[in-house]
Amino acid sequence: MSLIKFNNFSFRYKGNEEYALNNINLEINENSFILLLGETGSGKTSLIRCLNGLIPQFYAGYYKGSVEIAGKSTITTPISDLSTVVGIVFQNPENQLVAMNVEHEIAFGMENLGISPREIEKRIKEVIKLTEIEHLLERAPFEISGGEKQRVAIASVLVLEPLLLILDEPTANLDPFFAKKIITMLKKIQETKKISVIISEHRMDLLIPLVDDIILMENGKLVGYDDKNVIMNSEIFHKLNINKPKIYTLFKGLEYGSTYFNKLPLSVEDALNFFRQFN
Ligand SMILES: Nc1ncnc2c1ncn2[C@@H]1O[C@H](COP(=O)(O)OP(=O)(O)O)[C@@H](O)[C@H]1O
Ligand SMILES: [Mg+2]
Repeated sequence: MSLIKFNNFSFRYKGNEEYALNNINLEINENSFILLLGETGSGKTSLIRCLNGLIPQFYAGYYKGSVEIAGKSTITTPISDLSTVVGIVFQNPENQLVAMNVEHEIAFGMENLGISPREIEKRIKEVIKLTEIEHLLERAPFEISGGEKQRVAIASVLVLEPLLLILDEPTANLDPFFAKKIITMLKKIQETKKISVIISEHRMDLLIPLVDDIILMENGKLVGYDDKNVIMNSEIFHKLNINKPKIYTLFKGLEYGSTYFNKLPLSVEDALNFFRQFN
């Protein structure tokens, strides 16, 4: 049984004529770090909203087809039940932070699920270490920095031990230092917990070397889901109107100068290895 399964799923927001999601068929791999890419308005956030039942349960509109999360239909299963399988951190984490201090914030979801106090304590200990927020437990969520809020939001979702963790542009409001910190942390979490992580993000230079797979969206359609090497060597990726990673642009330029690449280098390390052969 796959973690997530879209079957010919389409969705149109009430009042819109166009479908935000158009006949999506998708099964998400387990234990992988996945980048969700597409131009603004291509349907990335809408796709994410399907992954915990917000679409179609919360957002008014019209849908066709079905989405299953760990075998449960997102049409009929309460969103609270789905939240133990899929954890989502949206773009503005402050909207997700509700408690008086960080410790309560992290415990909140577990208390709602009736998890025992001893188990709550154990999970908090583990998750604050992973997200490096041990020193923030007593602080109020509104008085910490943007990068810290983001880590608290990730911690509060992670304690519910989801099989899939999803982040919608988590570093959009962060400076490059904190963006890198969050992204490297997510990679560590993915590897330690062996869960799948899906991240919608523009900072391609940081992410491409770390991810396994890429999902491509264009105009409400899913136009690719494969290993990053396959996607980044494809014509469809090349034509997409998004900021490409610097290494990609550099080596694509060399390719136009008729240097042949079996496989484009995607990290600084791979690029250096390419140049070393001429040494
Ligand atoms: N809450 C909403 N109500 C109506 N239309 C929406 C809503 N959210 C997104 N849309 C529309 O759905 C389409 C896809 O948007 P979105 O999923 O936000 O794309 P992305 O995250 O890739 O920028 C766009 O045309 C957008 O205007
Ligand atoms: Mg979006």
